[in-house]
Amino acid sequence: MELFVDTADTNAIAELAEMGLIDGVTTNPSLIMKSERDIFEVVREICDLVEGLPVSAEVVATEAESMVAEGVRLSKIASNVVVKVPLTWDGLKACRILSGDGTKVNVTLCFSANQALLAAKSGATYISPFVGRLDDINLDGMELIAEIVEIYDNYDFETQVLAASIRTANHVCDAAKIGAHVATVPPELIKKLVLHPLTDKGLASFLADWKKSGGEILK
Ligand code: E4P
Repeated sequence: MELFVDTADTNAIAELAEMGLIDGVTTNPSLIMKSERDIFEVVREICDLVEGLPVSAEVVATEAESMVAEGVRLSKIASNVVVKVPLTWDGLKACRILSGDGTKVNVTLCFSANQALLAAKSGATYISPFVGRLDDINLDGMELIAEIVEIYDNYDFETQVLAASIRTANHVCDAAKIGAHVATVPPELIKKLVLHPLTDKGLASFLADWKKSGGEILK
């Protein structure tokens, strides 16, 4: 499974990119607002930081024609920009037009398998089902990922399932087990994935024993 980072925080992206841990970046209007930066400036910087990896930047228009115009503008920032459009009727129209012109499109705000089916038929490169927001209303977000993976597999759709609104370490692991192509994860959560109390406990014990041994590796 590919790992995207879900943020517009360039410091966080730079650190993860340098470690080679991420395969792409997703942003949305709320994340851009949080960065307190101009969308064109911040997306350009992100595209430079991740050198050719996919970077999703979202349109804010609600009518297809304007979405396409915004998408064209965003896609001119860099060749690795993926235009994000909402899963509405107009969003699907815009997806068809943009993808027909060779632009990669991420269809976002997906909350049902039927929506995902329409996105795939509209030529989406990625479908973004929001796991956490479904869990928030006592529905099973991961079940939706499983349904979409099954449907896309049944018909060999090329659209990639990008598990979004990922909130917990279990979400990441479950998305990978189900076969999501990508999970987009906030940077703080990516860092938490490394943690395990037995690792800390084991390391403390190894270091304590090493100290007793008086040995040195670098002299
Ligand atoms: C996906 O691309 C969205 O940016 C994101 O995953 C939304 O997550 P949230 O529900 O935690 O805001």
